[in-house]
Amino acid sequence: MAIRNLRYQGDDILKKKSKEVPEEDISSEKIQTLIDDMIETMHKYNGVGLAAVQVGVLKRIVVIDLYDDKGPIVLINPVIIKTKGEQEVEEGCLSFPNEFAKIIRPAEVVAEYTDREGKRMQVKAKELLAQAISHEVDHLNGEVFIDKIIPGTLEYVEPEEN
Ligand code: NI
Repeated sequence: MAIRNLRYQGDDILKKKSKEVPEEDISSEKIQTLIDDMIETMHKYNGVGLAAVQVGVLKRIVVIDLYDDKGPIVLINPVIIKTKGEQEVEEGCLSFPNEFAKIIRPAEVVAEYTDREGKRMQVKAKELLAQAISHEVDHLNGEVFIDKIIPGTLEYVEPEEN
């Protein structure tokens, strides 16, 4: 496994639409290594989620970890099939270090995706998981959170010294 280089604000790749991963490619070493690297990179930067485009790969792959007992989840070719309600949340992104803003996300989402074993799954999510899925699926469509924040709520938070 390896830490991959993150792509940051201003990098044109973040505006590009990612491509579906063919089902037959999921078990390949290339895709499985990419998934492992994405999880390791997300953990290294204490992220809740990461889309493949953020490490420069235009494939519809997302990893999410809420640091609860479920561990990291891997969503390949995720599609949000239903949303319900709204939540106003504080949000950041590993591609926008130290920037946080308020944004409206769906309160609940139902998403279909393929897991890393190639099995089609469905997840019903609320609160932080619904927010994370919405944020990461936006990345796959070339959308970044900063373009849909509530105006005037952007804050720059100084990083803590380690
Ligand atoms: Ni992000």
